[in-house]
Amino acid sequence: MQKMNDKISVMISQEDVEKRIDQMAEEISSDYRGKALHLICILKGSVFFTCELAKRLTVPVTIDFMSVSSYGNGTTSGEIRLAKDLDESIEGRDVLIIEDIIDSGRTLSYLLENMRSRRPASLRLCTLLDKPERRITEVEVDYTGFEIPDEFVVGYGLDYAQEYRNLPYIGVISGK
Ligand code: IMP
Ligand code: MG
Repeated sequence: MQKMNDKISVMISQEDVEKRIDQMAEEISSDYRGKALHLICILKGSVFFTCELAKRLTVPVTIDFMSVSSYGNGTTSGEIRLAKDLDESIEGRDVLIIEDIIDSGRTLSYLLENMRSRRPASLRLCTLLDKPERRITEVEVDYTGFEIPDEFVVGYGLDYAQEYRNLPYIGVISGK
């Protein structure tokens, strides 16, 4: 159900998002030249970004999906658990985790530790958006699309109560 009264203002236009994904794909393709890249898409927010990035990569690509849930009360994010595991082993593979946004960093630090224990040949991290001001747990990001201020954003896969993922730009809901 679309909330008709919500007004969305554009923070990053579709054109700018896609130009940046072009650049990121070029950089990643160059860094992984001669290798095959295994992308891990973190559901659901990263789906749109993963597709757009994957289409532009010029190295051989495989894709797997993982879903994590954070159980917390109110504003404090609680324990993070695997809701859907990968289908395939990542042992010995060149793995790139694809995230939509890094906020506190808690999800990513859980994921990185979990992935490292599976002994990939290499493990890097790529995110479309980063809110560095919000960081609680330090994480090293290898590829960042945009650093943004501490505002709640939607679109390009990101949701507010499961809505707005399909917006083709990054927006802010006014009055929220
Ligand atoms: P972290 O563990 O705090 O880094 O949480 C990251 C997750 O919180 C992301 O993968 C998103 O699902 C969600 N999130 C954080 N900030 C936003 C936002 O501005 N819009 C939509 N989802 C967000
Ligand atoms: Mg996410």
